[in-house]
Amino acid sequence: MGKIRWLILVTCLSLFAFSDGRELKVWRKSKLPEYNHTLATILVQYASSVYLSDLTELITWTCCRCDGLTKGFEIIELVVDVEHCLQAFVGVAEDPHAIIIAFRGTNEHSLQNWVEDLYWKQHDINYPGMDDAMVHRGFYSAYHNTTIRPAILDAVERAKKFYGDIQIIVTGHSMGGAMAAFCALDLTVNQHEKSVQVMTFGQPRVGNSAFASLYSKRVPNTIRVTHDHDIVPHLPPYYSYLPQKTYRHFPREVWLYNIGLGSLIYSVEKICDGSGEDPDCSRSVSGNSISDHLEYYGVRLGSDEPMSCKIVMDAHVLNLSSRDSRGNIILSRDPATPLLKMSTTKFDNQKNPISVD
Ligand SMILES: *[C@@H]1O[C@H](CO)[C@@H](O)[C@H](O)[C@H]1NC(C)=O
Ligand SMILES: *[C@@H]1O[C@H](CO)[C@@H](O)[C@H](O)[C@H]1NC(C)=O
Ligand SMILES: *[C@@H]1O[C@H](CO)[C@@H](O)[C@H](O)[C@H]1NC(C)=O
Repeated sequence: MGKIRWLILVTCLSLFAFSDGRELKVWRKSKLPEYNHTLATILVQYASSVYLSDLTELITWTCCRCDGLTKGFEIIELVVDVEHCLQAFVGVAEDPHAIIIAFRGTNEHSLQNWVEDLYWKQHDINYPGMDDAMVHRGFYSAYHNTTIRPAILDAVERAKKFYGDIQIIVTGHSMGGAMAAFCALDLTVNQHEKSVQVMTFGQPRVGNSAFASLYSKRVPNTIRVTHDHDIVPHLPPYYSYLPQKTYRHFPREVWLYNIGLGSLIYSVEKICDGSGEDPDCSRSVSGNSISDHLEYYGVRLGSDEPMSCKIVMDAHVLNLSSRDSRGNIILSRDPATPLLKMSTTKFDNQKNPISVD
């Protein structure tokens, strides 16, 4: 007999004192963001679809992960940094009515190595313009030092010209969550955007405690979802006895886990405290699972081509794209051009696979 699965939502708000008083002051001042379950189940679909390799299906929003709650989404920019195996898109959604920016995470094929590197090898750099704030060089560079950033900023500007000053929501899974955090901070600090919201899934730590408090002041509307024993939110490691030196998460975590009561399994969503490192959330268990990393809210997060960074697009879409001298691809759509018009073109028999790496 199969197990009966029940879904209950348990909302526990616990704001309890954290040992380092100086840091807590900062977080007390900024209002903690509200967690919206419905919004989370919508955003996780964007974080999932950005992994897909068929750029034609993505730009026309006809991919297998592009239905349901994300219906009506219009991509206006798709960028593939072929050199570094990175992918992101910018588009405009109906519900929530917002500009959505999504970043994909590490290729599954190299996930094991990536996790080991996160454990053992850290190369930190100073976050520009902020004394004491150190961040992970690899995550910082993936957003700031590739084709990703200029493409995203350009698309946000075009979207705002067409749709006005609507809200911006940034999302991503795994390393894509780390990139989402850098993007949101960039939009707030350098582009002076007022309404930036972030929700990430299974993201690693990105910087030290000075960075975490800078981040939470500038982008307070951030939810960091973790799932059960997912290993990645435990990395790079946090050492509570080295509070100033160690990597440290920013708030606010929402921890998804299951509790079994006899033959019943309950899914719990625990809303964590404002410290970023709530000892009663994912830190209360050992981070030892890759499979918990690859699924959030029942949605698979990972690529459909786990063995490579392959991408596929047909001749028509290839025509919309521009490539730089290093082969990186940017697909831009004018928001004024209706998607329907594009998707009536016959695509199927002229797929033009481009393999990378
Ligand atoms: C939660 O998000 C959904 C989807 O955007 C929205 O329709 C709903 O109004 C939100 N609920 C609250 C309480 O903000
Ligand atoms: C940015 O990329 C260049 C060339 O790949 C490299 O020399 C430089 O060190 C990188 N900067 C950072 C901050 O990683
Ligand atoms: C690509 O663009 C060129 C010139 O803009 C046009 O002649 C050609 O028909 C286009 N090809 C496709 C498959 O749309």
